[in-house]
Amino acid sequence: MNNPPLVEKPRCYTVQGGARLSGRVQVEGSKNAVLPLLAATLLTDEPVTLHNVPIVEDVRTMSALLSHLGKGINACDSEYRLSENGALQPHAPDTLVRRMRASFIVLGPLLARLGEARVPLPGGCVLGPRPVDFHLKGLQALGAQVELHEGVVHARASKLHGAPVYLDFPSVGATQHLLMTAALIPEKTTLYNPAHEPEVYELIALLNSMGAQVQAWPDRLEVAGQARLRGSVHRVIADRINAGTYLIAGAISGGQVTVECVPAHLEALLVKLKEAGCTVEEAPNEVRLSAPARVRGVQLETRTYPGFPNDVQPQMMALLTLAQGDSLIRETIFADRFGQVPELARMGAQIRVAGDSAFIHGVERLEGAEVHTTDIRAGAALMLAGLAAHGQTRVIDRGHIGRGYVDLAGKLRQLGASIEVKEAS
Ligand code: EPU
Repeated sequence: MNNPPLVEKPRCYTVQGGARLSGRVQVEGSKNAVLPLLAATLLTDEPVTLHNVPIVEDVRTMSALLSHLGKGINACDSEYRLSENGALQPHAPDTLVRRMRASFIVLGPLLARLGEARVPLPGGCVLGPRPVDFHLKGLQALGAQVELHEGVVHARASKLHGAPVYLDFPSVGATQHLLMTAALIPEKTTLYNPAHEPEVYELIALLNSMGAQVQAWPDRLEVAGQARLRGSVHRVIADRINAGTYLIAGAISGGQVTVECVPAHLEALLVKLKEAGCTVEEAPNEVRLSAPARVRGVQLETRTYPGFPNDVQPQMMALLTLAQGDSLIRETIFADRFGQVPELARMGAQIRVAGDSAFIHGVERLEGAEVHTTDIRAGAALMLAGLAAHGQTRVIDRGHIGRGYVDLAGKLRQLGASIEVKEAS
């Protein structure tokens, strides 16, 4: 596969505020669903085809990593066919794993296929410290010996075995990592306190179609693994976080938008948008939102699914900076997911952060300013703030937005936004 460049040049998005968005947007496949699906292709030597793959930077990183490990990748638009032509190799390079935390989940599948694997620790990130202790404890419970040498995790097992595994917190990544590993152990594994995000159920659907038997219960996932898994074909679900981003874009601009997505995956956000004064209509494969000139303040807490998703917290914060009245956002998933706050403050937002809570006093208008992105969702939040601000906002982005969105600026333009994209110096 011919991978386009992996590190994007800094970009400047110049957003002219004031347009009321209207129209329809089709959301791409889910980034957070497709990354584990790609990693799961390591579990079989047969071809796996994925449809509706979003061509974002994180998918390019995962593809580069899988190519390095020995997978052949044939990509045609959003269709990816992954196959194996020779032996897999068990070492993941530091350069690729550092670029994206989700790369770490190749460890278990490689271990289950090859009996050993070496994957560097992904390290901390801008959302605060993000350890992998649940992943490693889970692999140890399945019979792996795990050692850390100079920042690289070395896992070995002459034979993995099924086991009960308990997660201290329903981590999405650890649930997916352990599900994949257990799928290739021909015994029973029970995963207690798992994550129930739709992206976990996407992986379960793929693993079951590959021959594993995963059964989901409210408190646990039961995995009857197989010694061999077969190839499969799977279509990736629509990205619920990006869908939420476009709905909030409609709301912040006082507009009317229709977003093609799976409404059931967005319930917690839709409830808060209604509380804020938006009219929201759900149809089988779309959500229609119509926003008042000014929304009302609301209180929310980020929670694991089906709670309010932390991945739309920054975008919702951008909306609430302009609400009538005060709002409160409590972030319970990550230690530091308020990277957007100082940048929104440059635009005139009034936000006070104390511990895990952000107190937002709604202002009548934001002013355009130069702002810098710190992560994917903070980047989206700043773009949305720019849509509603008075004058021009220059969003300087060092590759964050493109990690998770397929042409965010283009899709917003399609809804009537005025956004120019140039390389920044
Ligand atoms: N945690 C631990 N130990 C672990 C694993 C997680 O302490 O071994 C903690 C984390 O530090 C965090 C919490 O558990 O405080 C939740 O982390 P989780 O493992 O659920 O997150 P993740 O799997 O690393 C995925 C998404 C994130 C999303 C979170 C939570 C992918 C590739 N990433 O991360 O998406 O915010 O779940 O829903 O699926 C994004 O798309 O912008 C993004 C950051």
